[in-house]
Amino acid sequence: MTLTNIFVFALVGAAVGIPGFAAGNSGEELALTPPMGWNDWAHYQCEYTAQTILTNARALVKTGLAARGYKTVTIDDCWMQKDRDSQGNLQADPQRFPQGMKALANAIHSMGLKFGIYEDSGYATCGGFAGSGVPNGGGKAHFSQDARLFASWGVDYLKLDGCNVYIPPGSNKVKARHKAYSAESAALKATGRPIVFSESATDCCRFDPYYYDVLSWVGQYGQLWRIGNDVATFRASHPDRPRFHSVLWNYAVNLQLGRFQKPGNWDDPDFVIGGDSGLSLAETRSQMALWSMMSSPLNLSSNIGKLSSEAIAILGNKQVIAIDQDPLGKMATLVRRTPVMDVLFKRLDGDEYAVAVLNHGSSTIQVKLHPVEFGFSTNKACRLRARNLWSGTHSYSSLLSANVASHDTEIWQMRASSSCGVPTRTGAIVMVVPPGKHWRQKHPNERHPGIQEYGRCLAAPGHVGACTGAAAERWTVTPEGLLKSGEHCLAVINGKVVMQSCSTGSTEHWKYNLAGNLIDSGGQCLSTSDDKDRVQSLSIQTCGHNPPNQIWSLPN
Ligand code: GLA
Repeated sequence: MTLTNIFVFALVGAAVGIPGFAAGNSGEELALTPPMGWNDWAHYQCEYTAQTILTNARALVKTGLAARGYKTVTIDDCWMQKDRDSQGNLQADPQRFPQGMKALANAIHSMGLKFGIYEDSGYATCGGFAGSGVPNGGGKAHFSQDARLFASWGVDYLKLDGCNVYIPPGSNKVKARHKAYSAESAALKATGRPIVFSESATDCCRFDPYYYDVLSWVGQYGQLWRIGNDVATFRASHPDRPRFHSVLWNYAVNLQLGRFQKPGNWDDPDFVIGGDSGLSLAETRSQMALWSMMSSPLNLSSNIGKLSSEAIAILGNKQVIAIDQDPLGKMATLVRRTPVMDVLFKRLDGDEYAVAVLNHGSSTIQVKLHPVEFGFSTNKACRLRARNLWSGTHSYSSLLSANVASHDTEIWQMRASSSCGVPTRTGAIVMVVPPGKHWRQKHPNERHPGIQEYGRCLAAPGHVGACTGAAAERWTVTPEGLLKSGEHCLAVINGKVVMQSCSTGSTEHWKYNLAGNLIDSGGQCLSTSDDKDRVQSLSIQTCGHNPPNQIWSLPN
């Protein structure tokens, strides 16, 4: 076993969800709150020049978005030539960047902004340009040489993609990426310049068992990592094509990955395309509210100069950004999921909380939320003092009520009166199921299924199925590792999963690990009977290598 393997084993083996985990990360001092900025990709793809970048940088300053925190301007793929120069250095495309990269970096820095750039851990970028990784067929990687070049240009942020990674004989796609990302991390550190490192956890292993292996170690090397699929890009030939479904899909995927996240280490569900064509203002509010509830990086990717004043007000909403940038860096908990609505709850620093309600259905919904749903006590005197962050209206009541328009998301910041007590970890327990064979056969070209395709809810007394929002889907995770629904606890008796009164016997204690397994006192995993698209019964089985019927996401 190598040193690295021992570390990974220790991390994966540690019980993490109850009450949380603290893994060492050498990059902790960088990106202690989620990075914010702008990137050209989702709007321009390869159709840009230095002028495009500078125009957007100026627009960030002029609109006031930079002052709100959107400071890192990153140039994505296609900035370079296909080949290196005779010294092996990367070369910027002279058509797009006639003054070179250093001049552009200087111009961006002189606006008080930071400068980010894109590369790839393979032999070629996703667009086919020179990558930093091992050449196809083997040879010497260029991580150190490229990192030195980036540092000499004044790069502050590197997005390293995961396309075209060469896998030498005896290695595999996970090991090859592990080696590449650790080499890049070391190369960036060796430059002596603080450079935020954004990795990709998607390209090799999205939705296969190795996904969770990659997620278990990316945080050791970088500050953020892409998950999910690419959000739908703007196409000039089809400017109004709807893009919200791609936002919702990445949200659904990201929401289940809270255990990998902490200050200095962020899951990245991709760009904020709110404000651009293909998203309405309601959908723009939704993306901002959802990304902020998840403490996600806020990298805008639109034509900033073309944003409407309404969109700028949404993207620049100070209070919503403060929810995103909260120093605890928590992922929201899914409190309730119905076929059209998600209710989220997030703990903030200083006894404050945030709540959001997403309506992804086609008509307005009325919602009433009781403190007990967020894990507060059932004491009748409990009152919530809430401020709606879009309308600015205040309420002080024993419940939170609202009308949420189709595709909109309401978001509140709130305090609870002392009789509410401290909230327990309460919400849905979701089995993360990637879209099944049947769904993929029906939709061969669709990369962004609906929210309901991704997670299924654990319901008392003991089955897993489509989330309905019923009270039986509400669980409390206690500090001792009990999974409680009402007055009953999930337990294992004679190898069977049952609900029984909570006596805190060892048959009811569960450990939660980074892979997302719930492990009983006998060391076996809470599983569903099979992985077909229907209601499933619970069973206890030997823990496998991340099979989908053993991956769970708990309230945070
Ligand atoms: C991948 C990434 C995108 C973008 C493109 C560039 O698809 O996920 O964000 O960087 O490559 O080619």
